[in-house]
Amino acid sequence: MANKVALVTGGTGGIGTVMCKRLAKDGYKAVANYYSKVVPTADAEKWRDDLRKEGYDVHIADGDVTNFASCADMFKKINSEIGQVDILVNNAGITRDAPLHKMTEQQWYDVINTNLNSVFNCSRLVIEGMIAKGWGRIINISSVNGQKGAYGQTNYSSAKSAMYGFAKSLALEVAKKGITVNCISPGYIGTSMVMAIKEEIREKIVAQVPVGRFGSPEEIANMVSYLASDLGAYITGANMAVNGGLHMY
Ligand code: CAA
Ligand code: NAP
Repeated sequence: MANKVALVTGGTGGIGTVMCKRLAKDGYKAVANYYSKVVPTADAEKWRDDLRKEGYDVHIADGDVTNFASCADMFKKINSEIGQVDILVNNAGITRDAPLHKMTEQQWYDVINTNLNSVFNCSRLVIEGMIAKGWGRIINISSVNGQKGAYGQTNYSSAKSAMYGFAKSLALEVAKKGITVNCISPGYIGTSMVMAIKEEIREKIVAQVPVGRFGSPEEIANMVSYLASDLGAYITGANMAVNGGLHMY
């Protein structure tokens, strides 16, 4: 594993940070993508330095996942400075919740660009390298709300459920090349994304979770670690639900 490179998009966020720590602990060269227009480079460097002080050897890479050219520049830099990406975790995501009758065009496109078009941009830019190497892992961070829908999330649910079709089709294309492509669909995880929901609505949501609590980022990172490892070699085109029983199928 020592020479394998794992890139987590939106890697300095709530779940991304814990994924990076876990991948570094597993022995990969973990790289956190961030976008310097929303996370200043000085903040990303502090994030990296703090984690290094804790003993996690992580790297950072600037790039806007909504923009193909920006991603191309980022991968070029990663290739020359760290190495070819072997494990891609498509984790960057945003919510812009509103019921459809109030949703703006901007809210629609921002969510589709960040949560879905990013998956094309990054996967397209790593897939040829993975095919040439004969090994690779692509892991899309979808959502329980891509499976079941959610009030105020026509944009987000559309993007997250489209990830399943993408993963299944790409999994077929690269199955013989040693590459697996999967989705993880977290339930509600206690990061700022969920803490931004109005408290009274949050209480209604947690009351619907059979295990009676929100999940932790570690519980998602565990699944990433498994799918990235050789233990996950026979899992492809799958969706792993990690949702405390909120949606069963
Ligand atoms: N569960 C149950 N009831 C909900 C609900 C939910 N998830 N979301 C909204 N409601 C209810 C409200 O309680 C309210 O009920 P009453 O009319 O009985 O009071 C009704 O729906 C309308 O809601 P609002 O008055 O809040 O309507 P609004 O137009 O002001 O706001 C909204 C709309 C921004 C979508 C707001 O309702 C909201 O933030 N809802 C939560 C959306 C949500 O759950 N987002 C998930 C974010 S986390 C995430 O996405 C991570 C992930 O992948 C799991
Ligand atoms: P988060 O803390 O907001 O992390 C998302 C990260 O993506 C942030 O670091 C964000 O940067 C980054 N990002 C946004 N736009 C970007 C862009 N254009 N280019 C590069 N990076 C960008 O939220 P989280 O809870 O960790 O969510 C991580 C993933 O899990 C998301 O895909 C989310 O949809 C999914 N998910 C979360 C939950 C949950 O309950 N929390 C449940 C299911 C699925 P900024 O913070 O600067 O915007």
